Amino acid sequence: MMNFRCYSYCAMLLVLGAFVSPGWGDEMSRTEREKFFKKAKIVYARDLGVGATKPLKVKLNDGKREMKAIFKSIDLRMEMPTRFGSETVGEYSDSYKHVIAAYELDKLLGLGMLPVAVERRIKGKKGSLREWVEEVMPRYGHGALPPEEIVDKVQLVWFFDYLIYNTDRRVHNVMLGENWAPVLIDHTLAFGTFEKPFRPLYRFPREVVDRLRVLERKQVKKALGRYLRGNQIEALWRRRSRVLDMVDRAVQQRGPEDVYFSVQDGEIISG
Ligand SMILES: Nc1ncnc2c1ncn2[C@@H]1O[C@H](COP(=O)(O)OP(=O)(O)O)[C@@H](O)[C@H]1O
Ligand SMILES: [Mg+2]
Repeated sequence: MMNFRCYSYCAMLLVLGAFVSPGWGDEMSRTEREKFFKKAKIVYARDLGVGATKPLKVKLNDGKREMKAIFKSIDLRMEMPTRFGSETVGEYSDSYKHVIAAYELDKLLGLGMLPVAVERRIKGKKGSLREWVEEVMPRYGHGALPPEEIVDKVQLVWFFDYLIYNTDRRVHNVMLGENWAPVLIDHTLAFGTFEKPFRPLYRFPREVVDRLRVLERKQVKKALGRYLRGNQIEALWRRRSRVLDMVDRAVQQRGPEDVYFSVQDGEIISG
C-alpha cells in the first residue's frame, strides 16, 4: 500500500512537473532553455504595458511545458556625439542585440546572473526573447536579512556592468532571486564604446577574473560577433585589459586575500 501510494505520488509529481512552468534555476539546463525559447510554439505575444522599449510578454509551449519570456525588437543606432561622464563617443545605440550579447558574455565568464536570451522573429520582427524569471523576491517586502556577502554580489554586478558598459542598472533592471542572487535584465543600452570605469571596483571575483584572463578575442568574436559591431568588441577588449590591470594593481597593494572573493555557478561561496 505504502509503495503504491508513494509510487502514485511520485508519478503525480512527475506529471505535474512536466506542466508547471519552471522558474529561475530550474532543472532545465541553460542549453535546453535556449533550445526551448528558439523553437517552442508561441501561445501569445502581447504588450507588457510597461517599459520604454515597448516589450512584449510572450508565452511559449513546446508540447511538454509552458514558459514565459519578454521580447524586444528595438534596434536603434545613431551616429552622434554621446557623452557619459567625461568621455564622448561617436554613436548612440539601443538594441535588442545587446541583450543577447550580454547573455553570451555572462556564459563565457561562467557568471550565471542573466536569464537565457536568444534571437527570434515574432510578429515579423527580429528581436531578443528573454526568459521570464518567476522566482524573485518581492520588491517591497521585509524579509530575511541580506547575507554578509551582499557587498560581493554588488561588486560582481558592477564588475559585469563595467565590462558591458551598462549605465542603465536602475532599480527596475535588477531583481533578486533565491539567496539574494542578482538577476540582471534590460541590457539594450549596454555596449557603449566608453572605457572609463564609472563605479568603484575594489573586490573581484577570482574565477571570473581567471576566465577573463585566458579568454581569447576570437572566442568573444565567435559568441558575440553576431550581435556587436567591431568597434563595440574593440571597446570591450580595452575594458577587459583595463579591469585586469586594476585587479593586478589591487592585488599588489592589498594582497589577494583582501581583493578576491570566490564565485561558482553564480553563487558567491567564500569571502
Ligand atoms: N525576465 C524577466 N523576469 C521577470 N520580470 C521581468 C523580466 N524582464 C522584465 N521584467 C519586468 O518587466 C519590466 C520591463 O522590462 P525591461 O527589460 O526592464 O524593459 P524596458 O526596456 O522596457 O525597461 C522590468 O522592470 C521587470 O519588472
Ligand atoms: Mg528596464
